[in-house]
Amino acid sequence: MTESPSNNRPPRQSIVARTDPGDWRCAAAALGPSRSAKLRITRAGRVVEAFVVEWAGRYCAYVNRCPHVGTPLDLWPNEFFSEDGRALVCSTHGAVFDPADGRCLAGPCLGDSLTALDVRRDGDDVVVRWRPA
Ligand code: FES
Repeated sequence: MTESPSNNRPPRQSIVARTDPGDWRCAAAALGPSRSAKLRITRAGRVVEAFVVEWAGRYCAYVNRCPHVGTPLDLWPNEFFSEDGRALVCSTHGAVFDPADGRCLAGPCLGDSLTALDVRRDGDDVVVRWRPA
């Protein structure tokens, strides 16, 4: 399902759904430059929300939890990018993150990072896996 754009940015895609044991998949077609898709990961009996972005020709995935106070980044579902599409932004207090590695570049958690997840392309899908500690 595609949502209507509220500005000049491309339309956002809805939450992804397919899962396999140990992997969480979304259709690569749901992504594109400066676009994102959300995933729900079950880990140790808890549901953890994550998101995948396509950035600079590769995929990056993060847990959807701001290192500042732990809220999801997207107050509006699947809205992770800044207006210019060049950074990830936490909607709670405005922390700015590098899409390539999840580092906070500005805001109240400067120097902290989003929790990165392993991500790879598999045919028509993007596959996310919890990164071992
Ligand atoms: S909770 Fe994200 S910047 Fe404060």
